[in-house]
Amino acid sequence: MAGMVSGKAQRRRTVRAGDRTVTGLMRVAAAAVAVFVMAACADADATGPIDVGASSAEVVARYLSIDLAAPPNYAAPDYRAHYTRQVLAQDNSPAANPVTDEGATLGRVLFHDTELSLNRTVSCSSCHVQSQGFGDERVFSAGFEGGQTGSHSMRLANAKFFDGDDMFWDRRADDLEDQSLQPVFDRVEMGFSGEAGGIEALIARLSALEYYPVLFEWAFGSDEITETRIRAALAQYVRSIVSAGSRFDDGLAQAPPGPGQGNLPGLTDQENEGFRLFTRPPNAGGAGCAGCHEVPTMALDGNSRSNGLDAGETRIFKSPSLKNVAVGGPYMHDGRFATLTQVVEHYSTGIQDGPALDRRLRGGNGQPIRPRLSVAETAALVAFMETLTDTGLLEDTRFSSPFTR
Ligand code: HEC
Ligand code: HEC
Repeated sequence: MAGMVSGKAQRRRTVRAGDRTVTGLMRVAAAAVAVFVMAACADADATGPIDVGASSAEVVARYLSIDLAAPPNYAAPDYRAHYTRQVLAQDNSPAANPVTDEGATLGRVLFHDTELSLNRTVSCSSCHVQSQGFGDERVFSAGFEGGQTGSHSMRLANAKFFDGDDMFWDRRADDLEDQSLQPVFDRVEMGFSGEAGGIEALIARLSALEYYPVLFEWAFGSDEITETRIRAALAQYVRSIVSAGSRFDDGLAQAPPGPGQGNLPGLTDQENEGFRLFTRPPNAGGAGCAGCHEVPTMALDGNSRSNGLDAGETRIFKSPSLKNVAVGGPYMHDGRFATLTQVVEHYSTGIQDGPALDRRLRGGNGQPIRPRLSVAETAALVAFMETLTDTGLLEDTRFSSPFTR
């Protein structure tokens, strides 16, 4: 059969099916089973990317606006030239879980599905709202029974470029795979806690919904729903939320700045002044922000420590990427600042000393820096951060709810 397949497109499909088989091999312990999976994939490949059959497509069409024969592209995002090889090297995707179009699509369904909460009221997207930069305008988000989260929600774009890998404000999850089921098991957020049956209850829930066995088979080669697969699919979806299309990106793509950071085309004088302040170190007349919030992904440097919100702080916090920060307030792990102006005022005169404070926020005398930015400089920094809004991403249907019911 395979010998009859010819042509470039079909060869590419064969390679992709091969990739899938390698992933399958890692998950399936018995070699005999793996051989069976390989044969199944090769057969399916003769008629399309993965032939799940007409009835499967019908099942999916009852609930979802997803075309199994032509999923959107997640696996090969259109990074622009300013996302250089060095930037792409910060990608935290593990070799065992590369993004596939099918896996990320399954992740998208899971992300938007209220079935992931015990009483079917809350989905990931309840607290990670696309139009709010995949964050939440509320200081604390509401869980499945109306309880409040212990910290402010986080925007998700460019989470894949946090080279520290670990997730949550306090960096307690090892990576996105580890993070992805914690909200589901959380007593306040989605409620599948140990007392509620935990992972077994979740798998039973998903298995009873007719679209999931179809989607798991399509994404992973068999209809088995496992904890590892749920984690993998959610992580693939979140890693696919890449922002490279803000006005700032447009400027950078046209004029990648060298040292000294010139004027970016398309930005106003004030925005460019803000960009200079953002990137220049404090001892060179800047505010030193880019020492931690890295250009162009605006993800935090993995080695960053805390930013001095509270005196005596011992915990090391991270920040999500600043992409879409202007549509994603309030700010900081406890949502203490309502506006970006308040954020800049913190860095200007409010940094508090403590064991966790990053050395980049200490001056030559070892004390927290006090750049004492003027009103005009503060406004310029805020105007610059507003250029990080990626409208295309906020409206991108690849990330919106796929549910039609
Ligand atoms: C009830 C609200 C709520 C729900 C539901 C929720 N989250 Fe979150 N999410 C949060 C909050 C709050 C944080 C910050 C928590 C912390 O740091 O302790 C967060 C943090 C995260 C982060 C960390 C980002 C980073 O850069 O470190 C990721 C990723 C994430 N959530 C993905 C998900 C996924 C996937 C789901 C669904 C399975 C989900 N969330 C469901 C509120 C929610
Ligand atoms: C030492 C590294 C470091 C430097 C330098 C730094 N930041 Fe931050 N930034 C952080 C950390 C860490 C957080 C998250 C703190 C928290 O919530 O506990 C953060 C949070 C933020 C937030 C809020 C993000 C959100 O999602 O709520 C904004 C906005 C921000 N920083 C802007 C700036 C600006 C503007 C500058 C320069 C004036 C700057 N930062 C300098 C480390 C840094």
